[in-house]
Amino acid sequence: MTKIDISKPVEFPASMVSLASLASKDYKIEVGEGHLERQYEEIADEVKEAIESVLPMGKYTLGPVLEKFEGEFAAYCDSKYCIGISSGTAALHLALAAQDIGPGDEVITVSNTYIATALGISYTGAKPVFIDVDPKTFNMTADLVAEKITPRTKGILPVHIYGHPVDMDPIMELAEKHGLFVLEDAAHAHGATYKGRKTGSLGHIAAFSFYPGKNLGAYGDGGAITTSDPELDEKVRILRYVGQRRKFVHEVIGFQERLDPLQAAVLSVKLKRLDEWNSRRRRWAAIYDEMLAETPLQLPYVEDDVYHVYYSYATIVPSEEERVELISYLLERGIGIFAMYPALVPLQGAYQDMGYSEEDFPVSASYARRVMNLPMFETLREDEVRRAAETILAFYDRM
Ligand SMILES: Cc1ncc(COP(=O)(O)O)c(C=O)c1O
Repeated sequence: MTKIDISKPVEFPASMVSLASLASKDYKIEVGEGHLERQYEEIADEVKEAIESVLPMGKYTLGPVLEKFEGEFAAYCDSKYCIGISSGTAALHLALAAQDIGPGDEVITVSNTYIATALGISYTGAKPVFIDVDPKTFNMTADLVAEKITPRTKGILPVHIYGHPVDMDPIMELAEKHGLFVLEDAAHAHGATYKGRKTGSLGHIAAFSFYPGKNLGAYGDGGAITTSDPELDEKVRILRYVGQRRKFVHEVIGFQERLDPLQAAVLSVKLKRLDEWNSRRRRWAAIYDEMLAETPLQLPYVEDDVYHVYYSYATIVPSEEERVELISYLLERGIGIFAMYPALVPLQGAYQDMGYSEEDFPVSASYARRVMNLPMFETLREDEVRRAAETILAFYDRM
């Protein structure tokens, strides 16, 4: 069990130390703040109507409003089923629990992700096995996975990082060869496509987050699982609602992890706009690509056969020292810039007992020390995107 010692000071992972001084300052951010407020303004009438339609119904868990959204999101993802879950973290957990894994089993995933990817594995009692990523896309590759397959491996958990889909065909081939399941972490990739196919339909099962700032976000926590496997669909439904198929008949130790109909109603409103919002994000990315092409920054690489949805626009700064200087320069000028993810999951205190070090992940460890994410929301305005890019250009002219 987890023991928490709050008497000890917070210890930052080594790759975060250089950024710690920035976090303590109070900057006035002008580009990149208030995006959810602007989004609400855009859709307020419809959202109010949707919420007001749920309130008199007297059905505040499960029910027709949730089922309607589940149907819409399954269709959107080209999947047969969607199960609304209370968060992306819980979705990852239940998608794994439905595979009957537990202590002694291993699931291979990447180190440069949000900690929830690994937590989902740990909650089942299985062991996360962390790997490095491709230097161009920052994503998992089948070759890197293959090196870590053991007789204990049960599954592969790719993350479509920042909204760029993983090269899934070789991963599915590898999984088939070894009899493994593939769970997509699609928390960054609502609406992204790989070879014309939607994320959420590429593996055996997928987990989405509807955290408010995601490409598709709720007004609170929310998540979903998509799959086209009827057995997995049924197992997840049992697990998300205290292990029952029939009310008051609890066949297994389940969980209480349903998506609320109120959130589902909001998500239905937003889902209609997702494609347009993603295309706006792509427009901002194209402006950054063009304006920053001559800077020393490594800009996002996009494979020909994918539709990138830019949950984030991640650049790599030449050095850790330059990143601190550049981030501080931008924050002082009101540009909302940050580093995601500044520390690799296996190097966090939560996983320190596994004994990993930065040398185990040469690509991701070097990126964690140099990654810098630019403002990227569908509700940015073109002048703000240009201002963010111009401020970066000014930094480099200055040197
Ligand atoms: C890659 C990734 N996986 C999983 C999650 C977990 O989602 P949630 O915050 O909805 O629990 C997130 C959310 O930030 C994420 O970015």
